[in-house]
Amino acid sequence: MHNDAFLAFLYDAIMTAYFSIKGSAGARTLEGDIAIVGAKNAALKAIAASILYQTPLQLSNVPHIEDVSRMIDILREMGGVATFEDHKVSIDMRKLSTTAITPEIAKRLRASIVLTGPILAREGKVQFPHPGGCVIGERPIDLFIESFLKMGATIKHVGKFYDITAPKDGLRGADIFFRVASVTGTETFMMTAILANGTTTIRNAAMEPEIVWLAEMLNASGAKIEGAGTSTITIKGIRGKLSQKGKPFAVVPDRIEAGSFLVLGAIAAKRLTLTHVVPEHLGSLIEMLEYSGIPVERTKDTLTVRAPKKGTVLRSFNVRTHEYPGFPTDLQAPLMIYLTQTKGESLVFETIFEGRLNYTESLNRMGASITMMDPHRVLVKGPTKLNGKRLESPDLRAGLAFVMAAAIASGESEIHNVYNIDRGYERVEERLRAVGMRITRVSGE
Ligand code: EPU
Repeated sequence: MHNDAFLAFLYDAIMTAYFSIKGSAGARTLEGDIAIVGAKNAALKAIAASILYQTPLQLSNVPHIEDVSRMIDILREMGGVATFEDHKVSIDMRKLSTTAITPEIAKRLRASIVLTGPILAREGKVQFPHPGGCVIGERPIDLFIESFLKMGATIKHVGKFYDITAPKDGLRGADIFFRVASVTGTETFMMTAILANGTTTIRNAAMEPEIVWLAEMLNASGAKIEGAGTSTITIKGIRGKLSQKGKPFAVVPDRIEAGSFLVLGAIAAKRLTLTHVVPEHLGSLIEMLEYSGIPVERTKDTLTVRAPKKGTVLRSFNVRTHEYPGFPTDLQAPLMIYLTQTKGESLVFETIFEGRLNYTESLNRMGASITMMDPHRVLVKGPTKLNGKRLESPDLRAGLAFVMAAAIASGESEIHNVYNIDRGYERVEERLRAVGMRITRVSGE
């Protein structure tokens, strides 16, 4: 087959693949252990941080997911040399062949916004397009623009592009206050400030564990960051770039993957144990499950849920998504499936992203009773039996939630757009099949 034809064939096969899932009709059939992989939202930022290094950067425990491959491809297109095998990444960004993030790149991976600061700090300029909305709502970048200005940059708006230039002698340390605690904003400016002159303070910083891990990695490489994990982070600029010493940095375990599987265990397992987790990172979810009637056993690095005693009635509860350590928006869709199985009414208030509740319509088609009050709030009435259906995965988190709903539904479901699920979960069907889920990946015709 001609190369282009082969690529088109491959693309079709990937885009039309779907998961076929035979549901358990409410029975708790899953049993076994799942090892949690490194966090997508930590790995992506660590890979971007390679721009700040004067040595190649080595990472381990990197998840084999689409988004990570995309980030690596983007950096390769920008002049980097990288390998990604067996959960290990080696990336050498000593040569950077461009300072422009094309619209094509920005569309492929929204997280590419974290590249802007490191490129600007290192090269003195960066160009990038204004990002559009996405399925989980508008994703504004006003905090990025204002913070670049505070660091002394000048910004030209050319058509849909931002053309940003640092002062001749480099970016200046600044006092930055985020009106909204932004995860990628905090990470971007924590990285940018390393190569700036003087000290930068980020107030109302996001406090997610991935940020703490990133700061530890950067500090081990010569950065001077204090306060990561609190709402005030101080970064002293260093003169020169970072260098890695010693063994590869192991990416922190993915608390969202762990949380999603924990909820799956709570509705569908006789026993499910998650290994390689940091239980403290899931405090809010564990608290909710225990309140509702699902005890969660913890060790230093495992979590186990078991089927509750026969006749246990699971209590409903209200949920409000919040920055860490509150309940994460990325677990809102998985938890929704749990709430459809609890007795009574639950109000779910998605405070972070508008549009991140639209998928609930599909759950109603499966038999759930979820009423949209406004774009940020739904009322769930339970318990409801679910029926298998053909569903389209709108984004990775709702996609995984559909897999979970299908696992306890009656009959068979097809989950399409699995590509979206592959963006954030590694070989999910293999790992779920190993604990007893009847799930297969059907490649497209
Ligand atoms: N915001 C602004 N202005 C900005 C930036 C953000 O108003 O300049 C607002 C957003 O609209 C939102 C709030 O700030 O209402 C918080 O958004 P944040 O910036 O924290 O989100 P993000 O950094 O774009 C990361 C994760 C998301 C996760 C959120 C919230 C990555 C690559 N993405 O996004 O992960 O939902 O934090 O925890 O780290 C996912 O993995 O499925 C995912 C979407």
